[in-house]
Amino acid sequence: MAAYELPPSRSPNLALLHPTQEEKVETWKLNGTSWRDGGITFWILVDSTLPPNERPILASCESFRKRALVARAGKLEDALSHGIGSVFCDPDFRGRGYAQRMIEELGKKLDTWNQEDGKKTIFTVLYSDIGKKFYSKFGWEAFHSSHIALAPTSSENKTRLSGARPLRAADLEELCSLDEQFLRADIVRNVPRKKTRVALVPDLQTMQWHHAREEFAGREMLGREPDIKGAHVGCEDTSQVWCIWTRTFGSTEAGNTLHILRFSIQGEENIAHDDPEAGIDLTDLKSTDQAKVHGAAAVLHTAQVEAARWGMKEVQVWNPTPLIVLAARQIEPSTELTHRGDESIASLRWHGEPEDRKRVEWVGNEKYAWC
Ligand SMILES: CC(C)(COP(=O)(O)OP(=O)(O)OC[C@H]1O[C@@H](n2cnc3c(N)ncnc32)[C@H](O)[C@@H]1OP(=O)(O)O)[C@@H](O)C(=O)NCCC(=O)NCCS
Repeated sequence: MAAYELPPSRSPNLALLHPTQEEKVETWKLNGTSWRDGGITFWILVDSTLPPNERPILASCESFRKRALVARAGKLEDALSHGIGSVFCDPDFRGRGYAQRMIEELGKKLDTWNQEDGKKTIFTVLYSDIGKKFYSKFGWEAFHSSHIALAPTSSENKTRLSGARPLRAADLEELCSLDEQFLRADIVRNVPRKKTRVALVPDLQTMQWHHAREEFAGREMLGREPDIKGAHVGCEDTSQVWCIWTRTFGSTEAGNTLHILRFSIQGEENIAHDDPEAGIDLTDLKSTDQAKVHGAAAVLHTAQVEAARWGMKEVQVWNPTPLIVLAARQIEPSTELTHRGDESIASLRWHGEPEDRKRVEWVGNEKYAWC
């Protein structure tokens, strides 16, 4: 390309457009992202006075269409949301404000992107690996971002923690649809008058998107694909507890984590995520809830065994409920919450009326929502 003088980030010539095929390949080469599935839109910030394929890509990112639920004033609404990922600026162009300009423009585009019948987007999410400040300037506010971690174990516990069955891909459709039924009922129950509850739907497509990534990485890096996708247990009180997980493979073993994508505990009051630190004591619980704790401990133990089989460094559960923390402490009494300050900060932008922003509760703020 001929010598090109980079425009200022506030230049009116800059525009957020969609790349040509050739430009898409260039953005993949630049940020090393692998192929991803379905509902994806590619965005590039370019000088719109230059022709396609001859314009430097000043910054790039992707957005993923996601099904969402919004509960307010006693009503449940199906909505379409977006998750943003792969935010990237070529090292040669960094520090000039292009990434910020792109995010600012993207916020405006996503106000109506992919919506039908003139509807407006209600909320969108992203996960910041660069702290809380950068995205909050453009409306993506940091939400609760904590996790617990358990070490892998190669010794299968034959007594107290046994009894969970492994889940395979074919088992997930039924469980995801059951999970959605529970979520739809839970999210709308007892919504405080001034609150709006939002959730991304933990549907099969979302789980399959994560699993496509782990299968690709497993094939490429280890020559084998993970087939166990979670664990399920029927509790003594006849309720069901299960979790669906995925593995992330880092460039070193230290980066390998078995992530619980979604933890489902039938009958748990799963809405009150606000205070996961409020410790609860097993002996204070009704026997039916104690059964759920034992069930949750059994699926966590199965995750630990699977983590050992795949050389994972740890099992992580994002934003666990008090009941899940208690279950983890049945296995490892010293389990504590880690609050992330810089990486994977769950961030949500409210695209609706600004005065409603402070009233938003994010339900199901778990790893499955990550992109
Ligand atoms: C993050 C990234 C897109 C920023 O690009 P950039 O060109 O430096 O950003 P801009 O010039 O538009 O904005 C600069 C601002 O971003 C902040 N910023 C840039 N990189 C940052 C980082 N790694 N951590 C925290 N803040 C960062 C700067 O401090 C500056 O803030 P200020 O305006 O308050 O001084 C770029 O560094 C990059 O591609 N990094 C690798 C991929 C990545 O980490 N993506 C983000 C994933 S969430």
